[in-house]
Amino acid sequence: MEHRLLEVEGITKSFSGVLALDHVSFDVRPGETHVLMGENGAGKSTLMKIINGIYHADEGMIKLEGKEMKAQSPMDAMEKGISMIHQELNNVLDMSVAENIFLGKEYGRGIFYDRRLMQEKAGEVLKRLDLEISPAVKMRELSVAKRQMVEIAKAVSVNAKIIIMDEPTSAISHKEVEALFGIIGNFKKQGMGIVYISHKMDEIFRIADRITILRDGKSVGTYKAGHLTIDQLIAKMVGRTMENMFPPPIEHEPGEEALRVEGLCCEHVLEDISLNIRKGEILGLAGLMGAGRSELAEALFGMRRIKQGKVWIRGKEREIRRPRDAVKAGLAFVTEDRALSGLNKKTSVKKDMSILTLGRYCRWKQVISGRKENAAVDRGIRTLKIKTGSRNQNVGSLSGGNQQKVIVARWLLGEPDILLMDEPTRGIDVGAKYEIYSIIQKLAAEGKAILMISSEMPELIGLCHRVAVMHEGRIRGELTREEMSQEAIMALAAGMEGDCVNRE
Ligand SMILES: Nc1ncnc2c1ncn2[C@@H]1O[C@H](COP(=O)(O)OP(=O)(O)OP(=O)(O)O)[C@@H](O)[C@H]1O
Ligand SMILES: [Mg+2]
Repeated sequence: MEHRLLEVEGITKSFSGVLALDHVSFDVRPGETHVLMGENGAGKSTLMKIINGIYHADEGMIKLEGKEMKAQSPMDAMEKGISMIHQELNNVLDMSVAENIFLGKEYGRGIFYDRRLMQEKAGEVLKRLDLEISPAVKMRELSVAKRQMVEIAKAVSVNAKIIIMDEPTSAISHKEVEALFGIIGNFKKQGMGIVYISHKMDEIFRIADRITILRDGKSVGTYKAGHLTIDQLIAKMVGRTMENMFPPPIEHEPGEEALRVEGLCCEHVLEDISLNIRKGEILGLAGLMGAGRSELAEALFGMRRIKQGKVWIRGKEREIRRPRDAVKAGLAFVTEDRALSGLNKKTSVKKDMSILTLGRYCRWKQVISGRKENAAVDRGIRTLKIKTGSRNQNVGSLSGGNQQKVIVARWLLGEPDILLMDEPTRGIDVGAKYEIYSIIQKLAAEGKAILMISSEMPELIGLCHRVAVMHEGRIRGELTREEMSQEAIMALAAGMEGDCVNRE
């Protein structure tokens, strides 16, 4: 029999009577990338947390190199040779990058804590990942993408036999994904086993050796990656066939101008940005990590000081100095950072959903009274298929993707005129993505203007009327629906001038 590095046998787990995992088995061979797939709430993270010693299984057994293993804690798991990149970033923001990487490891223990050595070692790890991050800098000062890279660095800095990666690429873009895949390749050569969770189909087919699919806490089966087509995979995941990844476009004429920006500059991050969006239009914003896309959305929403430039909203020039001004002007902002957008994990789905995303910034909460609120919240849960026991369940106990859906549902209840969305489908499964795309299209058809930031090019191409591409704080070019292709977007994102694109 072939050698098995990790064996998971009949794992069952329930949370207060609700079955999250039902006799799940799979195994990992040395030098293999084993991908775990399934809809939001299928049980992927729970299974990984059991292997990593965060949760304990009600039933079943885990074997590492043929011997039964029961990790008591993540630290214990690490000592046994299992390392995990978590879906929810849990870096300590007030600590330095180096401290985060070595949190709980030898250099960071007790009073014998050698800052210089730690920084040196951290520097080496970061270099291996091709990262330009200083080990001394505080986590708080880094972008979400960089924080995710530190999380990756943390997991790969130990000598592990098994590395679990729970959606490691949800916040990073192309270049970093390539660096990560390079590292995965090296690990495989060394005979390590990788368990990889992702909702991104293109990634999965590039790196998977085998794929195990979970549905509603049960294993549907394990397949060789080459034996499955993308359609078959989706069908097994969602339990039905999905003809298309994108809903058919709703034909409508865009209306008058909703938002116009001219010559907008923000110190160090944005230079001479001009764009416009008409009512009913979805404008995509593409670019690599650090290109300034989130910063542009933040500037428009009054979260960054605008140094120069003008903003018109529905034809009227407006000065947006703070989020409150943006809200008054009819803007809403779905941020990429779950923590920042104020998802309060200790409150119920209902409370979190019915407070507008904006509430946190402007201290202005839309109060929808009792019955109406319940109805609206239930509508949100239904349309986005949020997997929750009831509207009163704690948001923190939902799966990662379902928490993201709560955030998306919030702005739907708000009904703003202009929507700024930063990676709205991050961590959301294919089926639910389709629902979100339909809603975005419907909003556009109703005359809303939408700015959509996304790192997933198929999503931009499938949904947007136009795409503006940023590079180093500037807009390098704009592509119409006819001109859009992954190649054209990539070329602009890499900093090529607009004229070169689409000209062979
Ligand atoms: N601590 C907890 N308390 C109660 N229920 C929980 C807890 N953790 C997970 N669950 C439930 O277990 C189920 C599986 O969640 P899990 O996080 O494993 O899903 P997932 O497959 O990782 O989904 P996603 O793709 O959204 O990350 C969900 O219904 C979730 O609400
Ligand atoms: Mg998860």
